[in-house]
Amino acid sequence: MITKKTPEEITRLRTGGAILAGILKELAAAAVAGATTLDLDDLAMTLVEGKGVEPVLLGYHPSFAPHPYPAAVCISVNNCVQHGIPSADIVLHDGDVVNIDMTIGYEGLIVDSGITVGVGKVDEESKKLIAVTREALVRGVKAAQPGGHIGDISAAIESYVKGEGFSVVEALCGHGVGYAVHEEPTIPNFGTAGTGPLIEVGHVYAIEPIVNVGKKDVVFDDAGDGYSVYTKDGSFSAHFEHTVAITENGPLILTQPK
Ligand code: MF3
Ligand code: CO
Ligand code: CO
Repeated sequence: MITKKTPEEITRLRTGGAILAGILKELAAAAVAGATTLDLDDLAMTLVEGKGVEPVLLGYHPSFAPHPYPAAVCISVNNCVQHGIPSADIVLHDGDVVNIDMTIGYEGLIVDSGITVGVGKVDEESKKLIAVTREALVRGVKAAQPGGHIGDISAAIESYVKGEGFSVVEALCGHGVGYAVHEEPTIPNFGTAGTGPLIEVGHVYAIEPIVNVGKKDVVFDDAGDGYSVYTKDGSFSAHFEHTVAITENGPLILTQPK
């Protein structure tokens, strides 16, 4: 079942989303050479304090994983596609491509957002990867119109990314969000316009294109930690994510600064 959120809930989600946007901005600024991904997680734990928000990924147990998630954020570097667990052993270097993905609870509701940033000077290909993935999210959000279908979002993302010469990961998808971290519907980053569930006013989606420079294939749990997903060919990967409410006037991004 796809749940519908009330206008009052959407207002609350928007407040929580603005807080998350602020936290992500600070985390991105801290993604500098020499920092470890654990440093960023520690910072995330500090940043949630006093804001009335909870780091709901900490202790969250997704169906795909063998144990609950041990950190507040997912930090996926370079060829790590998603769900990288912050670690003191992962040191950021100039040229790295770093995805920071965080989900928070605010007054009983949940918002989810992610950004990808380059550390220091990144090469042209990585720059393009980040720009294309960011634009893929813009296009996916624009396609989320009431009366349309989930496949409209999928097709908008896929056609744009492929046109730029990159691939979309098919094994990981966007999703409904708001009452839980992951809700229906599943929102693939590939598909056919006009197919899939109807997009209706009150729906809230986490739209999240995941783009590889090389092939779409991914390897699960290569690090043996139960979470990390890597590109099979070792190419770099990027991810941007917004929580978006479907309103009568179209899609409304909830996870941006107010
Ligand atoms: N924020 C992630 C998403 O976009 C959730 C990751 S679940 C975790 O769906 F357990 F790996 F953290
Ligand atoms: Co996320
Ligand atoms: Co998500």
